[in-house]
Amino acid sequence: MTKPTPAKVSMEKIVSLCRRRGFIFPSSEIYGGLSSCWDYGPLGVELKRNIKQAWWQAIVQERDDIVGLDSSILMHPRVWEASGHLEGFADPLAECKSCHQRWRTDELEGDSCPACGGELTEPRLFNLMFKTFMGPIEDEANVVYLRPETAQGIFVNFSNVLDTTRKKLPIGIAQIGKSFRNEITTGNFIFRSREFEQMELEFFVKPGTDEDWFNYWLEERRNWYIKLGIKKENLRLRQHMKHELAHYALDCYDIEYQFPMGWAELEGIANRADFDLSQHAKYSGKSLAYYDEDTKEQIVPYVIEPSAGIDRTFLALLCDAYDEELDKDEIRVLLHLHPKLAPIKIAILPLSRRENLAQAARGIYADLRQCWAVSYDDAQSIGRRYRRQDEIGTPFCVTVDFESLKDKQVTIRERDTMNQIRVPIKELKTTLAAKLSGEDLFVLPPGGKIWKVERE
Ligand code: GLY
Repeated sequence: MTKPTPAKVSMEKIVSLCRRRGFIFPSSEIYGGLSSCWDYGPLGVELKRNIKQAWWQAIVQERDDIVGLDSSILMHPRVWEASGHLEGFADPLAECKSCHQRWRTDELEGDSCPACGGELTEPRLFNLMFKTFMGPIEDEANVVYLRPETAQGIFVNFSNVLDTTRKKLPIGIAQIGKSFRNEITTGNFIFRSREFEQMELEFFVKPGTDEDWFNYWLEERRNWYIKLGIKKENLRLRQHMKHELAHYALDCYDIEYQFPMGWAELEGIANRADFDLSQHAKYSGKSLAYYDEDTKEQIVPYVIEPSAGIDRTFLALLCDAYDEELDKDEIRVLLHLHPKLAPIKIAILPLSRRENLAQAARGIYADLRQCWAVSYDDAQSIGRRYRRQDEIGTPFCVTVDFESLKDKQVTIRERDTMNQIRVPIKELKTTLAAKLSGEDLFVLPPGGKIWKVERE
């Protein structure tokens, strides 16, 4: 019999694993799905929550210069006039005169329709904001937009946050939430969809210190991904070319990940200067200046914005963690997820369903569930149960066997090495807590300095 060959990660493998194991389902699947919309299943929602928690911990919890916010998705329509999104947040779109498909002309290679070769119309600008109506009357006066970025909720609350927290510059305001863009081209699974979730930080600084802070955040944010286990060689920084810069940006770098479909943006880090605060001050008539006690002057802060996509981070983490290896004569699929991110931290596996063993295993299960996401699996052979946990990235399995009833010990089996150790049940929690911190598994490369891809 020929042995199977382990294969590299591909988008098909990730999509199939996500569907099969309940990470991600197509939205409204029983009705045939809705293009580019996705539902996060029982494991997906855990991984997503863990990503958000890791970001919040690094950005808000562990720092005293950043506070959090949760602003509403619907905002006053004037916000989008002031922010420039009504006018500037648009893609050039052309329609094929033969097959009537529509294309983004800035992404086309030639000047004819890629589907049928037909002639294209002149490009028209197509605004990416979703429109709806506030209240029962569907007229222009009641138009509101689904926010295309969470950032504007932060800018319009700048004074509220400053006044209530009595913080001084530099100060950051962080927010996690959904945003919506009516993209012309979506695809690559959850990489580009019309409804997505962002983790955005607006870090307000004194003008003149913005370049230093910009470099600081480039380094800080790249290291965040590395600390979560993403391989350094799969990350790079790419500076935006002049024509790519958003209407508000003085400078911008993308942190890119090497996905199976190629390098693509995980996070943008922009220097938005004083564009947003100045615009909102102008449009609202309210001052958004900051009184600088050192110089006794009113200043409009500059802002550095690290803006990360949660769905993209989710996809990058899965692609990076995915592995296949030959174990005896079978392929073992596993996700080397950082323990902090793994949807399930521990699986309790009783060797048999016999009552006395099940009782002991259920006792351990109930106890550990107070602290972590734990699952219980007593179906099929122990080998198959290990495989099921490996495939979803569970870092540790705890096996309860007949010996456990006598010696009050259980076996901890590690996902990556498959090593097993025997520990007393009364030391199980502390042993697992130490192992789950994962700090010994993922460390920053020495020096940990960023590198840059220069603007062409
Ligand atoms: N706030 C930047 C972005 O959403 O792209």
